[in-house]
Amino acid sequence: MKRWNETSNHKPPQSQKSKPPLIIIMCGIVGYTGKRAAMPVLVSGLKKLEYRGYDSAGVAVASQEGILIRKQSGKVAGLDQLIHDDPIRATLSGSHSGIAHTRWATHGPPTTDNAHPHLGPNGRIALVHNGIIENHNALRDRFKADGHTFHSETDSEVLAHLIESHYQGDLLQAVTQALREVEGTYGLTCMSADELGVLVVARRGSPIVIGLGDDETIVASDASAIITYTRQAIYLDDHDIARIEGSHVDIRSLDSSSVTRTPAEIDWSPGAAEKGGYEHYMLKEIFDQPEAIRNTIRGRIDTGRGTAILSGLNLTPRELVDIQRLLIVGCGTSMNAGLIGEYAVEDFAGIPAEVEQAAEFRYRNPIVGSRDMVLAISQSGETADTLAAVREAVDKGSLVAALVNVVGSTIARETGRGIYLHAGPEISVASTKAFTSQVSVLLMIALKIARAHRLSREEGIQIAQEIEKLPELVEAVLASNDQLAEVAAHYAGYNNAFYIGRGYMFPVALEGALKLKEISYIHAEGYHSAELKHGPIALLEEGMPVIALLNEGPGQDKSLSNVAECKARSAPVLGVVTQGDDEARQACDHVIEIPSCPHYSAVVPAAVALQLFAYHVARIRGCAIDQPRNLAKSVTVE
Ligand code: AGP
Repeated sequence: MKRWNETSNHKPPQSQKSKPPLIIIMCGIVGYTGKRAAMPVLVSGLKKLEYRGYDSAGVAVASQEGILIRKQSGKVAGLDQLIHDDPIRATLSGSHSGIAHTRWATHGPPTTDNAHPHLGPNGRIALVHNGIIENHNALRDRFKADGHTFHSETDSEVLAHLIESHYQGDLLQAVTQALREVEGTYGLTCMSADELGVLVVARRGSPIVIGLGDDETIVASDASAIITYTRQAIYLDDHDIARIEGSHVDIRSLDSSSVTRTPAEIDWSPGAAEKGGYEHYMLKEIFDQPEAIRNTIRGRIDTGRGTAILSGLNLTPRELVDIQRLLIVGCGTSMNAGLIGEYAVEDFAGIPAEVEQAAEFRYRNPIVGSRDMVLAISQSGETADTLAAVREAVDKGSLVAALVNVVGSTIARETGRGIYLHAGPEISVASTKAFTSQVSVLLMIALKIARAHRLSREEGIQIAQEIEKLPELVEAVLASNDQLAEVAAHYAGYNNAFYIGRGYMFPVALEGALKLKEISYIHAEGYHSAELKHGPIALLEEGMPVIALLNEGPGQDKSLSNVAECKARSAPVLGVVTQGDDEARQACDHVIEIPSCPHYSAVVPAAVALQLFAYHVARIRGCAIDQPRNLAKSVTVE
């Protein structure tokens, strides 16, 4: 498998001040100690966390025979079968304390060796870990010099070695001393073969929740795995470390001082718990977006030099200068994101860019030259038409790169270069956080190409700073979720809708229409605002609402005229307007406000507003939001 020189090996230039990349993908952690056999609790807990998406799973239990580990790539069901068929199943199932993990590969493929739990050098300490140990390379080199052997590519295994290097019979003390050396983030659970029944858990930047039971305690990375056993939970704060034995929980800080944390009541329904407390995966993923975008852009923006650091592209500025045209291929939402990339590349870099539906590209014998770069966009990395377009571009001798979310997917493997979104697994069929992460990367690609062409350092710094503001822009829209739900109630009864926009907002109109149609089954179409009078205006009437994107600076006055044309034909108008734009607000029947920002970055909050609008309309209509009829998450057939 070709490895993109991706973030894990990312070495920012010496002048780069920003911290090394910190990719926090929320894998799943479960730990248990108490009156029950641990194994069934651990496996069922992992099943509760499957919604987070993962590609490998493992468990470890502590027994008189030492630490026993069973782990493999693939699904929890396969792990469960492995344990069921195991010759020492009785021993595995007899232990009363253990830890478990589901891993979503970001650095290093989803292999058994890379799966958690990981052991220290003597096999006496096991741990599962979420987060990134930033100084893992230095620690690994230190231990290798001391003769340690490592079996995985992960930073988590290095952490297990570090803890064991401090172990002198007290696991809490060993973990405390180890974490004082750690740079980066962690949510961890570990245990020692020499302290049966004891778990030590710790948190910095990655959640750990402790479920308090009768003569038992279950820990997890989120409450979904806990509420089967208890609704009394302690949520650790950053730098908390806790020693747990049976139902006894002793919480300390990194300086070993005692800490008091008040238990909270988990009030989720079992159904909601499957989705981290949200009613639907789609809503969870919409609210994931600020963190997902932070993960996407982290370590990739160089505000000092006004450029982007996209090591996965494996292209020097010299090679970027040679790119004279960018061809973007994709399907559905990925194609809509590509359209925004087209606008940004031409706007920032002044070189031609065009988007093509992947199925068109693959069949029309495309004209692709040696100075073209073909960029394939695919969340799943498995879409058949996009994969075929990649192969056609490769066969045409083009420079090919991909923008993918799923590590190790087919499209990722078949292109020699690319950029992972690091948006975390996207479960809902309707793509939301993948879209805004795709757009974030496309703005960075446009910035990088532009700086190798005509964009000045000062202009680059301005754009880089605007890209870094994207998470806050999304948070501002998410904060108006309740108002959005109220607005949606005015439109849930219609069976048709137009979405209109200009410039950067035209692709947002297309994407907003796609979201509404695929989850609410309302016949929604996106059009360029100016296109209305070339036919679609014939359909305008009271029963045809129009959702107008009114955030596009240059074409704003023309779009307001289009809105007036709609109103003159009794069509209700919902405007997505910029905060403070009273003229736009007064032109519409209802408005959704987004923060003021440049039009190239306004596409992200505008898209999030339309995601929430579609979600609430579909919820009011009682639709199967996460699994809409006739749709699949990844279209791996033509
Ligand atoms: C988007 O909400 C849809 N689920 C669909 O259009 C999707 O974007 C398209 O099938 C492409 O999928 P990909 O990004 O995984 O290639």
